Amino acid sequence: MPDRITKENNNNNNSNNSEVETKDLSKVDINKFLKMNTVKCNVFIQLGSNKFIKLINANELYDLDLIKRYINKKIEYLFIPKNNFKSFMDEYSGNLSAILNSTDVNNDDNKITIQTEVLTSARNRARVFGIDDDVVNQATATTNSVFSMVQKQDNLSSLLKKMMQKKNYISEHSMLISVIATYIATNMNWIGESTIQKLSMAAMLHDVLLKSDELAMIDNINTPVFEGLSNHDKKAVLDHPYKISLLVDEIQNFLPDVAEIILTHHETPEGDGFPKKMSALRTTQLSCLFIITEDFVNHIYNLEKATAEEIEKIESYCKERYSKGNYRKPLEGLLKTTQRMKLGQ
Ligand SMILES: [Fe+2]
Ligand SMILES: [Fe+2]
Repeated sequence: MPDRITKENNNNNNSNNSEVETKDLSKVDINKFLKMNTVKCNVFIQLGSNKFIKLINANELYDLDLIKRYINKKIEYLFIPKNNFKSFMDEYSGNLSAILNSTDVNNDDNKITIQTEVLTSARNRARVFGIDDDVVNQATATTNSVFSMVQKQDNLSSLLKKMMQKKNYISEHSMLISVIATYIATNMNWIGESTIQKLSMAAMLHDVLLKSDELAMIDNINTPVFEGLSNHDKKAVLDHPYKISLLVDEIQNFLPDVAEIILTHHETPEGDGFPKKMSALRTTQLSCLFIITEDFVNHIYNLEKATAEEIEKIESYCKERYSKGNYRKPLEGLLKTTQRMKLGQ
């Protein structure tokens, strides 16, 4: 039977009868507890506005069925002491990366689900703690996992379909960019692993600080959607390429060029993008590849079905828009990739 925690009891968070105020606790998505089986701190469940029950003792092995029962009862969050939040998140992200690296995950659908979770956890973490080692490790684990899936995959169309689960826009969007960029780079004979790694890492991190799908979906600021945002959100959109690239730049011994790709991911071939309004000649080929890829991914993500006819329409749009400057070569790489997709390969 769990211990009842009330305001009348004493002050020690780790004791069985502690006083636990909401302000002393951090809420944690209950689903996270399905990815662990012990936690280094006590875990509480909320019963009323100020009433908490200790559900799991620190360091005690718990049964996942217990968590599933509460999920079925529509409980969305469990609570842990605020001062344990960072170490909890470290433990959780370590577990996720280990699951992703484990050879047990053979099925693509399961792999994609875990990749999405790892990336979402990286994003949640980055928004609280910045881009620290754990965020980088999680992004790297996802990058490696996606790359190994691409290498084993002989059907791009079916891989893309599996990745578009329409459940978590930012994570799916990032993974799709990583896959398509890998294909385009390979088609351009940029087969060096480090080029693909740079593009994939940029894909995983480029929108990592944005708080919502709505903001991440904006790729053009001359639209009513952008105009309709609050000033705070407009600033978040306008600043994110610069802010994220600065943080990436500060990571020691990190892959070169990733910060530059992130900084330029909202530039355009017309030279009216943000933050720098860079022309098609000033933007590097690597950045141009990323920009084309993101535009293409935005188009296919919204398709009901990626038929040959629909893909041809996107090809025409891309040819019209990207046949200039440093965009030319990546465009050729994209067209070779879409050729495969039209053939259902
Ligand atoms: Fe994006
Ligand atoms: Fe972005």
